Amino acid sequence: MMATVVASAPGKVHLIGEHSVVYGEPAIIAAISLRCTVSATRSESMRIWGRELHQTLEATPREWATSLEQACAIHRSCMQSKNFRPLFDLMKKKPMNLPLVASALVLEKLSVRTGANIKIRSDIPIGSGLGSSAALAVSMAKALSTAYCYELSSDEINRIAFEIEQFNHGTPSGGDNSTCCLGGLIWFEKRPPVNIIRQVEGAIPGNLSNFLLVQTRKREKKTGQLLQIVRDLPEDFRVVRVKILGRVTGEMFGALGRKDAATIKRLMNEAQQVLAELRVSTVEIDQLTEAIRRIGGGAKLSGAGGGGFVICFHEDRKRLEETIRGMGYSPCEVQLGVKGVRLEASA
Ligand code: MEV
Repeated sequence: MMATVVASAPGKVHLIGEHSVVYGEPAIIAAISLRCTVSATRSESMRIWGRELHQTLEATPREWATSLEQACAIHRSCMQSKNFRPLFDLMKKKPMNLPLVASALVLEKLSVRTGANIKIRSDIPIGSGLGSSAALAVSMAKALSTAYCYELSSDEINRIAFEIEQFNHGTPSGGDNSTCCLGGLIWFEKRPPVNIIRQVEGAIPGNLSNFLLVQTRKREKKTGQLLQIVRDLPEDFRVVRVKILGRVTGEMFGALGRKDAATIKRLMNEAQQVLAELRVSTVEIDQLTEAIRRIGGGAKLSGAGGGGFVICFHEDRKRLEETIRGMGYSPCEVQLGVKGVRLEASA
């Protein structure tokens, strides 16, 4: 009997710097205590078979299967298309199966010509800005490579996960997969060929405990489409705002280190204002962030926007929770800065 390898990776939340990070500005991103777990077993057949269960979305698991060759062909053709719009249109008509493509890519990278049986279980809401796809990509790379007896370094796992993310989002920065892979609190700058990735929890004392996450409406657009909205804005309009977000992120690093609550809140609100100008906020997010601003707090969308999660901060946690509930939402309890990808068990 083939051994089953189980690996898990955390989701992530952007404290600040989403979207501008795609244009080379820094972002500060924390790994969160919601995880995606992948179990992988080698198989001698040329098929990949999988079963997927997302806690927050579906009661019944989804199942999928394909030949390895077919899955590799889908992946190759998608990576070749430099214009991602047709890919998103295709996905709308016939949703591409991300886990399938992710597993095919890992096997292709390892030059493995046989298949695998995969099981996925995730607590991370899909398409909500919490890195569900990045956590899947990272845990898939770790579980499958280990099942095939490869001992890949974190860097190698992260590189494969980034390719999977490119398939899914077109032109991601790499910040999401790096955070899900390494865990903790990450300062990320996209600087190909070698990005700047620093684990900075040591520089930021305390446990970031007064941040709360709130889930607004599920977003309708994929991350890649939201990136495209920003890319389609007039260049000078976009460049000015991207620079502001970069400056605000730099200042946020200092404010977090000093535990300077007033500055943290001001910077979050400034970032939200600029993200709204970049057209990635929604009416619900505007209303919620405005309500939190009115009680003297800080709040902004987190991740690609267009719906999904808002991150909120106030020294008076009780007042923050009351305001969130008063707006008809429930605050979501997650721990920030948790461990990155890890092996859970091998059976
Ligand atoms: C998405 O979670 C974060 C974005 O900045 C995209 C990226 O960094 O790849 C919007």
